[in-house]
Order: sequence, then structure tokens, then C-alpha cells
Amino acid sequence: MATLRRTHPKRRGKPLHVALIYNADTDVGPEAPQDRGGTADLRHMVHAQARALRRLGHKVTIVPLARGLSAFQRRLRRLAPQVVFNQYDDVQHGALYEMRVAAIVRMMGFPMTGSSALALGLTRYKHMSASLLQGAGIPIPPFTKLIEKISDVKRYRGKPPLIVQPSQEHAGVGLDRTSIVDSKKALRQKVAAILASYNQPALVQRFLTGREFNVGIVGGRRLRVLPLAEVDYTELPSNIPPIMSYAAKWIETSVEYQRTSVQCPATVPADLARQIGTTALRAFRAVGGWGYGRVDVRLDDAGVPRVLEVNCNPWLEPWVGIARSDRTAGIEFPQLLQLILNAALEGHPYDMNVPMA
Ligand SMILES: Nc1ncnc2c1ncn2[C@@H]1O[C@H](COP(=O)(O)OP(=O)(O)O)[C@@H](O)[C@H]1O
Ligand SMILES: [Mg+2]
Repeated sequence: MATLRRTHPKRRGKPLHVALIYNADTDVGPEAPQDRGGTADLRHMVHAQARALRRLGHKVTIVPLARGLSAFQRRLRRLAPQVVFNQYDDVQHGALYEMRVAAIVRMMGFPMTGSSALALGLTRYKHMSASLLQGAGIPIPPFTKLIEKISDVKRYRGKPPLIVQPSQEHAGVGLDRTSIVDSKKALRQKVAAILASYNQPALVQRFLTGREFNVGIVGGRRLRVLPLAEVDYTELPSNIPPIMSYAAKWIETSVEYQRTSVQCPATVPADLARQIGTTALRAFRAVGGWGYGRVDVRLDDAGVPRVLEVNCNPWLEPWVGIARSDRTAGIEFPQLLQLILNAALEGHPYDMNVPMA
């Protein structure tokens, strides 16, 4: 079919008009000033990305999306960017909003950075992606189960220690000092708390106490694994569980934040590093990830890397997350963004670039 076209590979590296879209909804109640997960930090990050993209010679228009979806679409259509840099992140409306926004952008016919709507939606449903990974033969934590009502706890056979979290959140939301449970009673209480306060099922699985790694991945058809980063919990007081909780990720004033650090590159024997990298790549491919991602992996008692989650479109800020791994690999932040743009222009092999009328 002659009318079907993919985004043109020749455009790679040339100056582009980039529309940088992000979630500008500030209607989420008061933000604690020490909470780095707020919208002010998101804006700050988006501006840092715009500066980096401009340094590469691209023209960048920042397009906030809050409530006016029609206005947002009109604006995008008028701008007619060559590529949409998708930074729409949503912890307020629930798991499906990121997927919906990504689908709208693609239906309008614009190439878009990062993962497809399908992969974004799938990976926000932690239980679905875990089931998929398991089905594909990729190790995940044992005893993984979705618990939708309190009465299901009775039938759950997993052996403690267990970790319990909301099944449709990300960014550490719902993970705190009470997330690790050692008894049926504690499990029941935690599940009840999650059902009540997050209005979604709880994900329960074996709590792995081994080393934890973040594996950055960049590319399109050809993916590369970035230097491994390891989460270091050794400075954490023993009464606080060694997990990347909400506090450890975002609350600067918390003990969790102050006593948890990330080492990059991690000191890992070459064999293990290869095994971790391969597991992460397989997981990213399995969920249909594209462009860039971060796979969280933890070792089990036997030293086998198991996938905790695949993050499609992870936080993208200089010095943090996959950008930190990139710098270790000798890639500066603007180059990382260029690789992400290249993957967007390359396009997913099965995704035709046809605007919907
Ligand atoms: N099964 C598990 N065993 C050990 N630690 C876990 C497990 N699941 C989650 N964690 C801890 O909780 C953190 C957050 O979990 P994750 O599944 O990555 O969700 P998110 O980062 O989306 O909140 C992980 O970085 C890890 O420290
Ligand atoms: Mg994670």
C-alpha cells in the first residue's frame, strides 16, 4: 500500500521541530515543598530537556497538557511538529492516562518518543506485565499474585517475607515502611489499606533481599544496555526496609532519601552483568518497549536476576536515572535525547505512521 509510510530515516540528526508535551495539571492539592515528585519539578525537568534539545539545534515548542484536550490537539495540529517528545506522566488520574495521551498523539500521525500506548498501558498494570514476563520465561519474583479482595488473602500461599503494593502505580507510590509483611495478619492489613486508599487491587510477591539494579536501555531496533546502576541501602537503619519507597525516591527530608544512594557504574562481575543486561533487554522487548527504558531488577537468594518492573518512558533528567548511566557510558544528556529522537523517527517496525482523519 503506497500510502502507508514510516517516518523517514533520513531526517535523523537534522534540525527538527520538536513538540515537548507534558502533564501540566496542577490541580492535585498542595505540594509539600520537600516532595520532589511534584509538578514544579516536572516543569523544571521539561525545561532542562528543552534546553538540551535546543543545544542540538532543534526547534522546541513546549506544549503543556492540563485539561483542555481539544485545545491541546488544536495546538499540536497547528504546530505540526516533526516529532512529539512525550513527557506526559500521570500519577493523579490512574494508570491509563499516559496510554491514552500517547494513543492520541499517534492517531494524529506524529512520530513520538518512547514507548507506544500499548507498552505504556501494559507496564502500568504491574500484574499484567509480570504475567507476560513470566509467560515469556523471564524470571520475576516468586509468588506474584494480584489480590482484588480481602477474602483472597486466605487462599494466598506465598511464603514471607512478602512485599505488597498498589498494582497500578509507579514512582514508588504506595511503597513505605509497612510494605514488607511477615505474616498473614500483616498481609491482610496491608491489602485492606491498599484497597481502601488506592481503589485498586494489591500486588503481592516474594520480597527479594538481594542486590538491586536499575538497567538503562536506549535505542530502537538496535538496543544498547547502559552501565548498570545499583541501589545502595547499606547506610539505611535496619528498621527501615531496603526498598525504593516513595520517600526514598522523592522526599528529600526523609531518612530513606538521605540514606539511600545509587552507585553507577555498579561493581559487578562481568558474567552477572551480562546476565542482568540480557534479562533486562528481554523484558523490555517482551512488553513492547521502545526508545528508552529502565528495567528494575533484583537478585534472588540464588543470585538469579529477577525483573521487578519495566519502566517505559522513565524519568529523564540530567544526572538522574538512565541519564546517569549514560554519562557513565560517556554519552552526555543532549546526545541521550538525540538517541531517543532517532528511535522515534526510526519508528516501531509494526507501527505505520498514518494519521486518523
Ligand atoms: N519483589 C520485590 N522484592 C524486593 N524489592 C521489591 C520487590 N518489588 C518491589 N521492590 C522494591 O520496591 C521498589 C519499587 O518497586 P517497583 O516495582 O520498581 O515499583 P515502582 O518503582 O513503580 O514504584 C523497587 O525499586 C524495590 O526496591
Ligand atoms: Mg521501580
